[in-house]
Amino acid sequence: MGEVAVTAALPGRALSLLADQHHVRVRPPGAPLAGRELAAFVGDADALICLLADRVTAELFALCPRLKVVADYAVGVNNVDLEAARTSGVWVTNTPDVLTAATADLAWALILAVTRRVVEGDRLVRAGGFKGWRPDFMLGTGLQGKAPGIVGMGRIGRAVARRADGFGMRVSYTSLERAPPFEAMGAEYVADLDALLPEVDVLSLHCPLTPKTRHLIDARRLHLLPRGAFLVNTSRGEVVDEAALVAALEDGHLGGAGLDVYEREPEVHPGLVGRSNVVLLPHLGSATTDTRAAMADLAVENVRAVLAGSVPPTPVVTPVVPRR
Ligand code: DGY
Repeated sequence: MGEVAVTAALPGRALSLLADQHHVRVRPPGAPLAGRELAAFVGDADALICLLADRVTAELFALCPRLKVVADYAVGVNNVDLEAARTSGVWVTNTPDVLTAATADLAWALILAVTRRVVEGDRLVRAGGFKGWRPDFMLGTGLQGKAPGIVGMGRIGRAVARRADGFGMRVSYTSLERAPPFEAMGAEYVADLDALLPEVDVLSLHCPLTPKTRHLIDARRLHLLPRGAFLVNTSRGEVVDEAALVAALEDGHLGGAGLDVYEREPEVHPGLVGRSNVVLLPHLGSATTDTRAAMADLAVENVRAVLAGSVPPTPVVTPVVPRR
């Protein structure tokens, strides 16, 4: 029997099933943990299941020598020092695939909401501002024939691209890896992000957050987009320079933005909050009941495998010499 520390209760039955085999400790609700606080919570645990806001550092691996696996309850693992895990003998796993459709759907929810002024319209009706249909009332931007640009053609980027077809849009994308099946369907690969930007009407971000992608979308690149273009971000807030985004909205260059993630999450830049051409969601990409339960199942499967001495199903880091 191993000991598993979990930084928050998870939806579904996965944790209670895990508790049949292992000693499971779940942290009561609280602010995300980092450094020594997180190490104190992990203690002598063999496995940690953590959330995307918990900071898992080299210090934690040193302070918790029994820890064998960090199962991140997320697909993005930018909260974990991956190199320190590798050299410290700790597996890191994530929850890919199970959240792809939910996150791609949410990206499209944001694209539609911001281009067709859905939230603005809802607010107006509730405030009693709907005085009857008029030909020129609350006009938005149609999607048919427009060009979505996808940054990062991984699982979620591809799922977003597949959905574009249904809206009569032809995708352009840039990515470390090319996606030949999409090119066969008419998607255009543009190797250089700077060359992609002037071509797109809606830019949707799906790359992981790494030192290279931090502020990938900065003031200069925002102004490479055509005037009136829209930005949608369901990846990580730090991929966008939020102050530059606010400036590009304020100077009228961008037509609007749909954001699910923020640079200093959960803080939101005050310059975004008052803008009617910005739709703001509280990091809901994977937030469906089924998806969140499936993420818990996968995190638990990863933990079970490592504690049984096997290779976990979805590793991000394979340690040099796994801890025993
Ligand atoms: C992830 O899994 O990385 C998402 O941001 C969580 O919804």
